[in-house]
Amino acid sequence: MENILAFIDQNKDRYLAELKELIAIPSVSTKAEHVDDVRRCADWVAGHMRSIGLQNVQVFPTAGHPLVYGEWLNAPGKPTVLVYGHYDVQPPEPLDLWTSPPFEATIRGENLYARGSSDDKGQVFILLKSIEAYLKNGGTLPVNVKFLVEGEEEIGSTNLEPFIKEHKDLLKADLVLISDSSMFAKGIPSICYSLRGLAYMQVDLVGPNKDLHSGSFGGTVHNPIQALAEIIAQLHDKNGKITIPGFYKDVRPLSKAERSAFKKLPWKDTKYARDLGVKQLYGERGFTTLERVWARPTLECNGIWGGFTGDGVKTVLPSKVSAKISMRLVPDQKSTTIAKLFERHIKKIAPRTVSVAVRSLHGGEAAITPIDSPGVKAAVVALEKGFGKKPLYQREGGSIPIVVQFKELLNIDTVLLGFGLPDENAHAPDEFINLNNFFGGIKTAAHFFDQLPHFMGVQGKRAQV
Ligand code: BES
Ligand code: MN
Ligand code: MN
Repeated sequence: MENILAFIDQNKDRYLAELKELIAIPSVSTKAEHVDDVRRCADWVAGHMRSIGLQNVQVFPTAGHPLVYGEWLNAPGKPTVLVYGHYDVQPPEPLDLWTSPPFEATIRGENLYARGSSDDKGQVFILLKSIEAYLKNGGTLPVNVKFLVEGEEEIGSTNLEPFIKEHKDLLKADLVLISDSSMFAKGIPSICYSLRGLAYMQVDLVGPNKDLHSGSFGGTVHNPIQALAEIIAQLHDKNGKITIPGFYKDVRPLSKAERSAFKKLPWKDTKYARDLGVKQLYGERGFTTLERVWARPTLECNGIWGGFTGDGVKTVLPSKVSAKISMRLVPDQKSTTIAKLFERHIKKIAPRTVSVAVRSLHGGEAAITPIDSPGVKAAVVALEKGFGKKPLYQREGGSIPIVVQFKELLNIDTVLLGFGLPDENAHAPDEFINLNNFFGGIKTAAHFFDQLPHFMGVQGKRAQV
């Protein structure tokens, strides 16, 4: 182990130079104009996998963006870890809010800034480098590994589920390891054991059959912007509860033990509000901030458009308006059920003055992973060795819907070993990864692979859940 850790310390500059290359490829999965960049990024990841010593490296085409696979299976009798991550990134816009260009990794202070630095290129890279440290020092690993790095996570992993179904043998493993989340705070490593699900909807309203002069027609027809605002305003009550009938029916209540565990975490609402620049926090009454973001379902309007939004003045009463509205879900809500309840409710409360269409754009389920599994035990030791501090247990408000698919389709539990930070600006301008987390993450991952066989025993003895 000492030589592995020393190797990591000696190669820091090279790691940063390589990560810069990966980051420079603008693999924005949601934009058609980046389809070649996404492909180029998949090829870069595959080439990199080969160069660190992974075998059977393949770029699998899908109906969308390609998947990259690589493996090292020369530790017979040892556990097999399926490492999952994504090389696609969110769009960088608005560009003018970036301090340095989004695809030019730039170090300022103790952080490296770039789109994908944390979500998730930087974190995938952490895991690749921990593997490289073994394979370049003695040529062997304490476990078997299979890497699956996809290019469609940020757009809902549409083609991953069919791929998993078709490649069950290829992906057979004893546990899944994902680094695509955050530590609790700077200097406070954590194990994440739950993610929320998602039901993502679009609402389109049509009023008059064309845009109208607001002077000639205003006051005679219901402005669809106003109608949409009235609908959205009704979706929460004065206590911050979502008003869709049946919405909370399947919500698994928080146990007393979990609520008191959350209360023991080092957290201050005042600091949180100050950091976010809000005068006051908002949310469902009766629950703390951490409970609301980790273990309660929420509804957010993500975007709303229609009418005139350019500079200057245009007096118009628009014909069409739309909104994207998403709901974060918790166990045991089902995204398809929630989407139906949402659609029914919107159609019911929409005023008769407009016509309304509701579409479901994406759905994914919430995940809870066991915290007493061998994988988690190994992760606890690894984080303590890597960061010099015992990790906390936490949940996350974000979503990685494929975690539930790994359990349902392959019967494998996931360990979420996140090296980001909650304020890393994921999906926003000036995304960064903290360099201490980056290098500490590589060491932690190396410890994780070293520890796992002690907790997991031989291959085939699956984690008891
Ligand atoms: N890495 C995030 C998921 C995440 C966010 C985990 C915050 C933990 C904390 C992932 O890349 C992501 O952004 N997921 C989307 C899912 C969606 C597009 C299906 C999300 O959470 O919005
Ligand atoms: Mn991610
Ligand atoms: Mn993301």
